[in-house]
Amino acid sequence: MYHGFFLMKALLEAMQPGDKDWPLAQAIDPERLPAHIAIIMDGNGRWAKQRTLPRVAGHRAGINAVRTSVETCARLGIKVLTLYAFSVENWKRPRAEVETLWRLLQHYLKQELPELQKNDVRLQPIGRLEALPAPVRRELETTAEATASNRGMLLNLAINYGGRAEIVDAFNGILEMARLDGSIGTLKIDEETISASLYTASCPDPDLLIRTSGEMRLSNFLLWQIAYAELYITETLWPDFSRADLLQAVLDYQKRDRRYGGLGETRARDAVDAVKQHARNILEALRPT
Ligand code: FPP
Repeated sequence: MYHGFFLMKALLEAMQPGDKDWPLAQAIDPERLPAHIAIIMDGNGRWAKQRTLPRVAGHRAGINAVRTSVETCARLGIKVLTLYAFSVENWKRPRAEVETLWRLLQHYLKQELPELQKNDVRLQPIGRLEALPAPVRRELETTAEATASNRGMLLNLAINYGGRAEIVDAFNGILEMARLDGSIGTLKIDEETISASLYTASCPDPDLLIRTSGEMRLSNFLLWQIAYAELYITETLWPDFSRADLLQAVLDYQKRDRRYGGLGETRARDAVDAVKQHARNILEALRPT
């Protein structure tokens, strides 16, 4: 109770009196926050095209939305935020665009370190990082080490990431461990083993998956982990994704009835009411006239 209240207070403190986002922030229930939010940041290219700018201008503008989302989630009390920054398929883009993305990422990491520290954010890059250019890897390692003792929010940056690649890596890791400890002959794999072997091993599964720019696709993102995530698709292009958009997504999530294959609170209540009514009908029918 105090935890949620304290963190919401941190968000409200970041706002100016009369801030237009104030009513949205006030409407959020600090007791029912998603523990893990995952975001597919899409629409940078279209944002640039609408302004007859080169695609990379959209990526540059996208950094502001990254900064806003990280700060808002950290202050709101979200435990894990996972951002899809570069997929295993993104290498197909023009070389100049890919190189600009690496430069922007390095710039972001250098510039944002004080903010990450201030907001108690721990950075963890996830993906096939060995394929990244050495200076990018080094910058990621430096930021991860510098923020390693932060305990507020975990920020997973998915880079050269693919959901299927992650599952393949998990299985190969499980096999390798079993070979090393001699248990390969009796190896049994269950869901817990797989979850514990993913890049996101220590994280709760995402409760809320946000995708910007209106596309109805998962694009190979966190395929295993999003089994029961609530999806929130907004038409807003990533560079325009604001604090208000993020708060709106959380409010929308708080209205959902999560059922995990069961009946969920509302349906379970309806089912109990229906049984009670049925029993009343039977008693009524049996009543001596
Ligand atoms: C998708 O938009 C976006 C990306 C592939 C890259 C995301 C990168 C950033 C937000 C900036 C740098 C990131 C960090 C973490 C500092 P798109 O280019 O596919 O857009 P389109 O679908 O409109 O073409």
